[in-house]
Amino acid sequence: MTTPQLSLHPLAEAANAALAKDSPVVLGLLSERGKRFFFPAKGILAQSAEAKLKAKTANASIGIATENGAPMHLSCVHKYFNGLSPAEIYDYAPSYGKPDLRQAWAKKQREETPSLGAHPVSNPVVTNALTHGLALVGDLFLDPGDEALSSDLMWENYNLSWETRLGARISTYAFFDSKLTGFNITAFTQALAERRGKKLVVALNFPNNPSGYTPTKAEAGAIVNALTAAAEAGSKLVVVSDDAYYGMFFDEACERESLFGRLAQAHPNLLAVKVDGATKEEFVWGVRVGFITFGIKNGTPALYKALEDKTAGLIRAVISNVTQPGQSIVLKALSDPDFRRQQAEKVALLKARAAVTAKECRKSEFADAWDVYPFNSGYFMCLRVKGVEAEAVRQKLLDDHGVGAIALGKTELRIAFSCLTEAQIPGVFTAAAAAVRAVRGN
Ligand SMILES: Cc1ncc(COP(=O)(O)O)c(C=O)c1O
Repeated sequence: MTTPQLSLHPLAEAANAALAKDSPVVLGLLSERGKRFFFPAKGILAQSAEAKLKAKTANASIGIATENGAPMHLSCVHKYFNGLSPAEIYDYAPSYGKPDLRQAWAKKQREETPSLGAHPVSNPVVTNALTHGLALVGDLFLDPGDEALSSDLMWENYNLSWETRLGARISTYAFFDSKLTGFNITAFTQALAERRGKKLVVALNFPNNPSGYTPTKAEAGAIVNALTAAAEAGSKLVVVSDDAYYGMFFDEACERESLFGRLAQAHPNLLAVKVDGATKEEFVWGVRVGFITFGIKNGTPALYKALEDKTAGLIRAVISNVTQPGQSIVLKALSDPDFRRQQAEKVALLKARAAVTAKECRKSEFADAWDVYPFNSGYFMCLRVKGVEAEAVRQKLLDDHGVGAIALGKTELRIAFSCLTEAQIPGVFTAAAAAVRAVRGN
């Protein structure tokens, strides 16, 4: 039996033609699925949008129910909402996201990324938080067998989304140098050199999960230079900045700008993608609002529109649209005059916990039990336990001391100081050392 070859929808043809004209590289970077996708601009959503503007007598186009000129709703639901109108809660949001939220987020991105200057990038498209943004990167750019490069210390969901779900392959380089002093630019540069001339998706995640490390300004510059040189040498790159923990910087040495700012204008062979969102930055983990944004040197409005349309088409196909109340809440928070002050207060709390953690975990009495991976940001820090497997330590720590941690790889034990009080922190490390020694048998 042969599989019928799907012909491309004319709107996909048009989007691909726009990419072919303005950036054949970006067209070539798309997966087969990415090439097939388009936003159904003449479908139900578009017709409803047109009716919203012009249907003055009666609007029988929309797929919700209305009453008294607002979305119909039940008071047993409505009593849980305060300060949002029915339209801000119950109505569908566009597949691209609420326009005013996209605009507000774009403004925030630019303010926080001075190196972006006036360089044009796409409008952020709203995602069901960052997990979904990363999944969209996979859908757009990874075919089965395609390679993605990540540091060996990475969030495990990259594997589930890109390898298990899409059949791509993730290769890794050592995140830290052997002395654990900082980012391993040698390993990173070498990994890029080994793939010279090829298509490659590169995932950057700073502050990093699980290590809690953000490169210094010098390291960040070296990373941008290495990627630019690889693009210059002919590699075709999609470079994803997973900025989940953006803003949680606890050390003056940290690079405070997303690398997206420089990567978005680095080279025509390098498509920069920013995956970010409210989840950690605004302390709204379950609210599920994130963004995906594209940038490339010489990027044109037509190129960005094609990418936004393909992304919104994928969203329409899988989840249709992202939570309306979640988007409304995030938008209101962003526009709240107290937002920055409140956010800074919480970051200061995390910074204080990071400082206690840094002091406690490096006490000389624990030198036999672990090495400490560098950390200066984010929610986590990571221990490299000595002479034992991290999973055995994790179980011992939980069973004998009632302390929960996460075992990753063979020897990495991740401690989330973000959810420990300062008073709890010393006890966690004392217990962890006791667990390491007990598993080791001394
Ligand atoms: C590095 C990294 N990226 C992305 C995410 C996903 O975040 P979200 O909850 O917004 O999907 C996480 C969450 O733990 C993360 O650690």
